[in-house]
Amino acid sequence: MAEIKKLAESRDLTRIERIGAHSHIRGLGLDTTLEARAASEGMVGQLPARRAAGLILQLVREGRIAGRAVLLAGQPGTGKTAIAMGLAKSLGLETPFATLSASELFSLEFSKTEALTQAFRKAIGVRIKEEAEVIEGEVVEITIDRPAAGGAAAKTGKLTLKTTDMETVYELGGKMIEALTREKVQSGDVIALDKASGKVTKLGRSIGRSRDYDAVGPHTKFVRCPEGELQKRKEVVHCVTLHEIDVINSRTQGFLALFTGDTGEIRAEVREQIDTKVAEWREEGKAEIIPGVLFIDEVHMLDIECFSFLNRALENEMAPILVIATNRGITTIRGTNYRSPHGIPADFLDRLLIISTQPFTEDEIHQILGIRCEEEDVEMSEDAKLLLTKIGIETSLRYAIHLITAAALACQKRKGKMVEIDDISRVYGLFLDVKRSTQYLMEYQNEYMFNEVPRDADECETMQS
Ligand SMILES: Nc1ncnc2c1ncn2[C@@H]1O[C@H](COP(=O)(O)OP(=O)(O)OP(=O)(O)O)[C@@H](O)[C@H]1O
Ligand SMILES: [Mg+2]
Repeated sequence: MAEIKKLAESRDLTRIERIGAHSHIRGLGLDTTLEARAASEGMVGQLPARRAAGLILQLVREGRIAGRAVLLAGQPGTGKTAIAMGLAKSLGLETPFATLSASELFSLEFSKTEALTQAFRKAIGVRIKEEAEVIEGEVVEITIDRPAAGGAAAKTGKLTLKTTDMETVYELGGKMIEALTREKVQSGDVIALDKASGKVTKLGRSIGRSRDYDAVGPHTKFVRCPEGELQKRKEVVHCVTLHEIDVINSRTQGFLALFTGDTGEIRAEVREQIDTKVAEWREEGKAEIIPGVLFIDEVHMLDIECFSFLNRALENEMAPILVIATNRGITTIRGTNYRSPHGIPADFLDRLLIISTQPFTEDEIHQILGIRCEEEDVEMSEDAKLLLTKIGIETSLRYAIHLITAAALACQKRKGKMVEIDDISRVYGLFLDVKRSTQYLMEYQNEYMFNEVPRDADECETMQS
């Protein structure tokens, strides 16, 4: 019987990473029993919330339960978004994690319900298994026929491939030559050719040839020369989301819309057809559903219509796990005159598991600042870190994190090697935090335009300790 195994994936994209607010978060920092470690994977403290998020992770991994919703609630800057990002990183590449920001819902392009439906479908993955005929072997020789003088590029050639048991010569067409040249295939490489699509995948260099070249890069992977037949049937797995299938099949837009994001409204019939098709594939064992996570941050921005939609959508059998976050206390539900905890209607609140985040302790802030310094490649003296921690407690963790880069620049300016207390106090003087800025406004508000002191404290409804 033909050997069936999963094609090795080839990913060698060079990633250009910028340092973002959460780039130091690499996971939830849990141990194998899902207990939160004090500091791990960039995460510090917030143990009960991380442990709870770990249980949600387990729910998602098992994939059996649909339509659970979790609310992350807590004061600003206590790491709600960070926990959601950690969850996303821990899920792995195959499980979809979709994020939605409220502003997308209120764009004029399409209705709120359409935007929410798209978000839901972005969070459901479909794992499609396909059998493909591939040729896999070690390249013995590639010869490309020289074109006649002044002629066009070579159109024909020969490729000799071998396994430990056999050797065959294949005739090459122009398309295949192009693919081989693009992948820079040379003798000694172990490659896989997809017969139907003409796709060439380099699996690595043959161990047998490892001594031939000194000039192999550090990323070169050495593999054994394949055994048995050259031609194999392999199981190829594609992971797509329901949304991607929708877009590819909605005839008005075509698949290019996936890249431009300009998908427009997708008709309900298209979605129904796709759901039926996917259900068929599931029955035939060709496809598996992977329910993922949909994360809606700043959920108080949703209005009453969106909440009703969510109520209903969560009851669908194909619903993902919904994670939402907010820092609001008791406030008005958007689109109504009613007030409710977190600005979320009571019937929807009742469907939620609530995880609460707590303000960080001094020690935790100190550790987070240390991690951020490392992430931003800033060397800081211990005294400066202690001062920054104090500032973090007095003002906010976010403000302290922002000062790191600014202080590093101040240090660079004076050609220093390490950020010292003076650099911190210098930037502390240059950039105001919210408290000092408000104080300044209170003192000088008469000199500003449209000065109006808020009528009551209602206008600032974020949760405060
Ligand atoms: N447990 C943690 N460990 C390490 N860094 C953290 C942790 N929690 C938060 N951070 C970092 O602190 C900063 C503020 O956290 P975050 O943005 O997650 O707060 P938030 O609760 O989402 O606040 P808001 O309610 O204002 O949206 C971010 O840069 C975040 O990466
Ligand atoms: Mg947030």
